Amino acid sequence: MSIIEVKELTKKFRRPDKKGDLIAVDGISFSVEKGEIFGLLGPNGAGKTTTLEIIEGLQPLTGGETFIKDISTQKDLNKVKNLIGIQLQSSAYYEYLRLGEILELFGTFYNKALDPDKLLDIVQLKDKKKAMIKQLSGGQQQRFSICAALVNDPEIVFLDEPTTGLDPQARRSMWEFIKKINEQGKTVVITTHYMEEAEYLCNRVGIMDEGKIVSLNTPKALIRNLKSSARINFYTDEQFDHASLEAINGVLAVEKNSNNTYHLRITHSNEVLPKLYKWAEKNNVFMQDLEVDTSDLEDVFLELTGKKLRD
Ligand SMILES: Nc1ncnc2c1ncn2[C@@H]1O[C@H](COP(=O)(O)OP(=O)(O)OP(=O)(O)O)[C@@H](O)[C@H]1O
Ligand SMILES: [Mg+2]
Repeated sequence: MSIIEVKELTKKFRRPDKKGDLIAVDGISFSVEKGEIFGLLGPNGAGKTTTLEIIEGLQPLTGGETFIKDISTQKDLNKVKNLIGIQLQSSAYYEYLRLGEILELFGTFYNKALDPDKLLDIVQLKDKKKAMIKQLSGGQQQRFSICAALVNDPEIVFLDEPTTGLDPQARRSMWEFIKKINEQGKTVVITTHYMEEAEYLCNRVGIMDEGKIVSLNTPKALIRNLKSSARINFYTDEQFDHASLEAINGVLAVEKNSNNTYHLRITHSNEVLPKLYKWAEKNNVFMQDLEVDTSDLEDVFLELTGKKLRD
């Protein structure tokens, strides 16, 4: 059952130089199923935040319509508000209020509000109830911003880059926390730049670039549908004719870095490795530090858009 429907959503902004429009979201349609963790993955400026904020009713749209449980955000925002919890990409809270006070204040915005102690307990910040935002570490602030999104015990939680700026350990624990709220029955919509995050957390991922959803599926299916299933990397000091490497059956692309490291995108390692060894022998190329890596969502993005997710 879909819990969110996005239909032909378009958002245009005036360009800063006032010369025409900037199309931030370009006629996208998708739906989110009840109970899933749904991710929007894409580079800076892809249109992820704009899409989320329109579904949440924080921004007007230019065209199309968005629905939460068949209620139009554009026509019936007040009904939508009680169903959703929002973590903003940059949250400016009241610096001089204490955590407990902020949660109480937020609770007054809704028909239903959870007890601040319970909320702080979920994100392991109970002992910080009397602390002010500015007395928390970055990771603690991030956890608090998610707990603030749960005040009204929402059915759907929107998290905009919940782990940006966290160290690897804090990111892991945030992942576990997101899984936990999902297991409690909440549908989660998240945006991220991190393909490993999308791969680990999301049931389905929409890959976004330049305002469009270029592909949408489970992470496994996105990877399975790639032309190339793996990468081979090696280093060599020898000079050789690149065309002969590209000509090996099953080698789809060859990229050389300035330090004589070669990156090959290949169909299957079973097919390519034996041929690659023969090629190396024939051309007197000594391949050092040879590695084979299976493809991941980063490769999906590269194949679909010709771009890297992060530079
Ligand atoms: N208020 C605004 N006025 C003008 N242009 C805007 C505004 N908000 C966003 N944009 C533009 O719309 C495009 C999409 O922005 P958006 O914030 O949705 O991207 P994003 O995918 O969330 O990026 P990031 O990963 O950096 O958060 C960008 O080109 C951005 O510059
Ligand atoms: Mg954003």
